Amino acid sequence: MKFYAINGSPRKNKNTATLLQAALDGIRSAGPEGTHETELIHLYDINYQSCLSCFQCKLLGGKSYGKCAIKDELTPVLERLSQADGLIFGSPIYYGNITGKMRSFFERLIFPFGVYDKEFSSLAPRRMPTAFIYTMNITEEMMADWGYKQNLETLEVVIGRIFSTPKILYGWNTYQFDDYSKYKMELFSEPDKAAYRDRQFPLDCKQAFKMGVAMAG
Ligand SMILES: Cc1cc2nc3c(=O)[nH]c(=O)nc-3n(C[C@H](O)[C@H](O)[C@H](O)COP(=O)(O)O)c2cc1C
Repeated sequence: MKFYAINGSPRKNKNTATLLQAALDGIRSAGPEGTHETELIHLYDINYQSCLSCFQCKLLGGKSYGKCAIKDELTPVLERLSQADGLIFGSPIYYGNITGKMRSFFERLIFPFGVYDKEFSSLAPRRMPTAFIYTMNITEEMMADWGYKQNLETLEVVIGRIFSTPKILYGWNTYQFDDYSKYKMELFSEPDKAAYRDRQFPLDCKQAFKMGVAMAG
């Protein structure tokens, strides 16, 4: 079985990537050695465009019906992902939503599968378990006040129609820099952030691991 994690952060070993890695560790641990293959894909390594609204994916009888017609470095990746046994998406929050790179990725992955009918039918070759890991600078309490949940839900509903409703994990109050003394940062206290990271981040990683186990089980 093949499971993928997709990292929508430009940083390859920070908060989002670490949680994704923990989830993949959980997936591998859930089956006998070698049975659950995993791969972490960094979107910022791939050169691709967002949807161009060409509608070739909706053209009846067209050769790209149900598929994205754009040919670039993302094309073979989309093909592999559509045949996966499970997908875990991960993104930092940028201005209350997922990163632009990740949004462009979803336009390409999901829009071609969505049929314009009243049943919201899907042309995806298979349904599969999914999960979404979000990391952000703000705290859980601030997130509740700032409406992020509603911002993120639109995409989660669409993922649900195409593959399955994603399990969600939030990583709040993330530690952003290796050395806070080098950056202007008055809004948040570094000692509070460091204490939260030391106490909470290992627990978040454990949750991500469990999420992986559940996905593979
Ligand atoms: C361009 C930009 C915009 C951001 N916007 C937000 C935001 O709206 N809310 C928030 O809580 N954090 C915001 N952040 C912080 C990141 O979401 C947070 O540091 C995240 O954990 C980074 O993930 P990474 O360590 O995997 O790169 C922003 C960071 C950047 C670079």
